[in-house]
Amino acid sequence: MRLGYILAMLSMEFRHLSEHQYPFFLMLEADPSLENINSYIESSYVIGCFSQNKLCGVVTLTPSRPKVLEVSNIAVEKDFRGKGLGKMLLKEAIEYAKKNNFHLLEIGTGNSSLTQLSLYQKVGFRITGIIPNYFIEKYPDKIIENEIWCRDMVRLSMDLVKSEE
Ligand code: COA
Repeated sequence: MRLGYILAMLSMEFRHLSEHQYPFFLMLEADPSLENINSYIESSYVIGCFSQNKLCGVVTLTPSRPKVLEVSNIAVEKDFRGKGLGKMLLKEAIEYAKKNNFHLLEIGTGNSSLTQLSLYQKVGFRITGIIPNYFIEKYPDKIIENEIWCRDMVRLSMDLVKSEE
């Protein structure tokens, strides 16, 4: 591993982002609909991840029901993927949710999003449901990922009150 890369990971900083700092170009990698992003971003708490002052990841957290917080968007810059940043952002999200007394943290992803499904379960989310045909009905273009047609939304959640350890 390059020394420069190791130093960059060690100096990773997480900061609350205000409206003028929202990285829409990055959020669009997780959700290709700007209209959809605009529907939740105003009511969201947004955390950015910085390496040497360069934004390299984002997670948006949206209250969806009483005591329930939704990870509405998570994205890491291409050059930084697969190095643990997604996991670090989710840990920040869990910490924020606990500190602010949310009881449940939720996230949704596509049936074809294998890396995401793996990552979310590794940090402790459990699969709680499926919304059939969600992506067909919501997005005009057919989405193919990992050679799988992305049709259904897989819903996952984490109980922040009851410890399962
Ligand atoms: N199959 C199974 N597991 C895989 C995998 C695969 N093909 N590829 C990676 N993983 C695992 C890794 O093993 C890793 O776990 P580990 O650290 O225990 O080894 C984990 O998934 C990836 O973790 P991490 O490196 O922290 O994730 P990341 O920094 O790459 O960020 C995303 C993950 C999803 C945020 C990032 O890939 C991204 O921005 N994707 C585009 C936007 C997106 O899809 N957002 C989510 C929409 S639901």
